[in-house]
Amino acid sequence: MGGLRRLTLRKAILTTGGLLFVYIILSTAFGPGIKDVKPLIHPVGETIHIKDSSKDLAQEAAPEIPSRQPPAIQLDPVDDTQHPWPIVGSDSEVSPKGDDGETQDATADDLALINAIKARKASPVTYTQMLSASRRERDYAIALLVREANLAMRSTDVYSVTVKNQTAPSGNIHDYLSLSKYYWPNKSTPDGLPYKRIDGHVNPEIETVRDYRLLRTMIREVHVMGMAYHFTGNKDYATKCAMRLREWFLDEATYMNPNINYGSLRKGENLGARTGVLDLFTIFRVFDALHYLKQEPSWPQDLIPQLQDWFRRYLRWLETSPLAKIERESNNNHGTYYDVQVIAIHLFLGRNEEAKQVALKALHIRIDPQISAKGEQPEEMERKTSWYYSVFNLQALMTLARWGDDLGVDMWHYEGPQGQSIKKAIDFMLPFASRDGEGWPVENLKGFDMTDYLKCLQIAWFVYGDEKYLDTIAYLQPRVQQDMDNGKIKTISTFMCDMSTLLEATKRGGQGFIWHWCLT
Ligand SMILES: *[C@@H]1O[C@H](CO)[C@@H](O)[C@H](O)[C@H]1NC(C)=O
Ligand SMILES: *[C@@H]1O[C@H](CO)[C@@H](O)[C@H](O)[C@H]1NC(C)=O
Repeated sequence: MGGLRRLTLRKAILTTGGLLFVYIILSTAFGPGIKDVKPLIHPVGETIHIKDSSKDLAQEAAPEIPSRQPPAIQLDPVDDTQHPWPIVGSDSEVSPKGDDGETQDATADDLALINAIKARKASPVTYTQMLSASRRERDYAIALLVREANLAMRSTDVYSVTVKNQTAPSGNIHDYLSLSKYYWPNKSTPDGLPYKRIDGHVNPEIETVRDYRLLRTMIREVHVMGMAYHFTGNKDYATKCAMRLREWFLDEATYMNPNINYGSLRKGENLGARTGVLDLFTIFRVFDALHYLKQEPSWPQDLIPQLQDWFRRYLRWLETSPLAKIERESNNNHGTYYDVQVIAIHLFLGRNEEAKQVALKALHIRIDPQISAKGEQPEEMERKTSWYYSVFNLQALMTLARWGDDLGVDMWHYEGPQGQSIKKAIDFMLPFASRDGEGWPVENLKGFDMTDYLKCLQIAWFVYGDEKYLDTIAYLQPRVQQDMDNGKIKTISTFMCDMSTLLEATKRGGQGFIWHWCLT
């Protein structure tokens, strides 16, 4: 994948370009015609004048942008030697290998484009140029997605809570079990029990119970295959997704009980911890995938109702079990992600009014107490990995705000009594991001990974239209690219963010599905 390294600057250009393009597409999607540009959410700077249309595309020469070669899209099983990123762990940890080290400086065209984007007032950036750039990004992202999906197709492992060779304290093999991440044996007791907390240090023993990994793998693979189905129309992806969903939630032999009573279990305890509820928060990815999968003619008609039944029961558990209640009352990211989960499930069940109530309440029980007048997130700042958790909670808040757009709750611009707001939380972190974390006021183990914060900024720029975000995006992009080159980047979603352009353009999903790629 020699193309990766040379993308450093181009990616900066194309991400901003891609966002502008999304803006354009969104604007046009809801207006009478492409010339009638009207922002969907909030105005972003000056009005962008765009030339019509796809006809021009053929006539107007595309800008000279160094191209990366997308891997060929193929639906046959790929062999491992061809796969550029070995899949490790639960969240598709990808690390590039086989880098040919080729580096290419920005061409004059690159610079012209980036300057034009930054100075949009007199923008010579044409719709055609944007489209051309975005198409290349899109092709590349889809090729990566299809590779991921093909790996998922090949997996013959059983994904089920029943795979584990120990049960939860209930003795029921269908009960989900995961071990607490930050708990370690107490060396002063003979058997190490009960375990004690050492924040910021993950006990590798959690890997001996695989429910968590399998759950996250199932969710990720269904998501990736569902999206691959959307882009390729190959029904084999849909078939496999249906199999995976049945296997995890429904099949007699392998189903999971709809509760997380034994999540984040600390050894020596009989019940899990409230924090285990967080294990399922990425479930909205499955719902996103289902949005596309159900359009497949051969999709089994009884599956979604059966899944809805499962989630009705699980939601009841979320709303009534003592553990989940404490999780809901958490004053940090755990509370926010509780809301993320609950809203996602309400929406899956068609309970929009209930979802709206959760979003409204989040203004006061999440934004007010979690963000200070200065924009700090005090609960997350207390953590040993304070940067990571500040971003993590921000992602949850922004995910809620995204749903808020659909539900008629403007969380983006809400301000608490002391002026607390999502924007303030983003802005508080901004100067530290543009200095690689230097001067961050509190303890922070494990450094300043900028990948997820960068994605937050891309959304922030879109929502708030503030130029300062673009500057920091341009600064961070090459650094994140470097991390990718060095194999430090954990998820493929970095690429998927670029794919936003296509998703919007096809207008089959809506904005939310795209932003999910960027926010988690
Ligand atoms: C570890 O065990 C010792 C001996 O029982 C106890 O005094 C101590 O409080 C325990 N430490 C923690 C952090 O629980
Ligand atoms: C139980 O599962 C763990 C994790 O998969 C594995 O390492 C261990 O060998 C298994 N033990 C037995 C007795 O099968």
